[in-house]
Amino acid sequence: MEELLKIKEEAKSRLGSAEDLKALEDIRRKYLGKKGLITLTLRSLGRLPEEERPEAGKHANQVKREIETLLSTRKRELEEKEKVVEEAIDVTLPGRSPKLGRKHPLTQVLDEIKKIFMNLGFEIVEGPEVELEYYNFIALNIPPYHPVRDEHDSFYITNEVLLRTETSAVQIRTMEKRKPPVKIIAPGRVYRRDAVDRTHSHTFHQVEGLWVDKGITFGDLKGTLTLFAQQMFGEKVSLRFRPDYFPFTEPSADGAISCIMCEGKGCPVCSNTGWLEIFGCGMVHPKVLKNVGYDPEKTGGYAFGLGVERIAMLKYGIDDMRLFFENDLRFLEQF
Ligand code: DAH
Repeated sequence: MEELLKIKEEAKSRLGSAEDLKALEDIRRKYLGKKGLITLTLRSLGRLPEEERPEAGKHANQVKREIETLLSTRKRELEEKEKVVEEAIDVTLPGRSPKLGRKHPLTQVLDEIKKIFMNLGFEIVEGPEVELEYYNFIALNIPPYHPVRDEHDSFYITNEVLLRTETSAVQIRTMEKRKPPVKIIAPGRVYRRDAVDRTHSHTFHQVEGLWVDKGITFGDLKGTLTLFAQQMFGEKVSLRFRPDYFPFTEPSADGAISCIMCEGKGCPVCSNTGWLEIFGCGMVHPKVLKNVGYDPEKTGGYAFGLGVERIAMLKYGIDDMRLFFENDLRFLEQF
């Protein structure tokens, strides 16, 4: 009897401090399981003298029922508690705001370039990135032996198919399909087998410009590009054109803007020259016009090519082109 009383008190206090359903199950097993204390006690009743058995049996069964009742009461309490925890929603917690994407800085600059030229009456045209040698080189007056091909070392797919090295190919594709006037810009990705460094990338972006019609002059070219530069970099910017060479233009020029950092005084960004070269340009070569079936005696015009990364780097003061392509959010979040 004493033994049973002790077991009962002990079970009671354990149940009171059981904090979850698992602890409760452990307790049930300890007392009521196959080898539980109560079960064993009941089984051992047979060993008592016969006259003591009924009383002891009654008592043991009573203790058993008491423990069972306590167990189920505690179980209900704990189940209720767990349910409350599970269903709890703390409406005072701050919400999780979704991360909003935004445009890549290069896309932002491209959009700006497109907008400026659209306002000047240029249409946006696109061409394939996987290009034929004919459009990338031959029709642009760059035959197979031409030394300029060395600078356009590219990724060839076959001898006649390559990743385009310049958006100039789109000039040809567009003029082939249309009669003048043609007034377009062709933005897009280009590829060269260049080693990657602060100012080079195997993949980069250009915007090609072309205006062919009757009576288009170098003066129109200067006017258009000056307006573009002033809208992109500010009214104070001035332009410099110096003779250059491109196989598909004659005459050709390299175009520079006055340094936007030092306003032309000379600083590390412009290597103390006061100028920043940002485009190539010229009057479309008669051979190119003939290649697309135009009559160079009747029509002509100008073409130019801008480097988008270069413009974005100058606009935002970025000194390493690789940042554009590494997808590091710490960089991208700043735009
Ligand atoms: N295609 C030239 C390049 O990738 C850039 C260029 C220069 C384009 C002069 C032109 C141009 O249309 O007239 O270096």
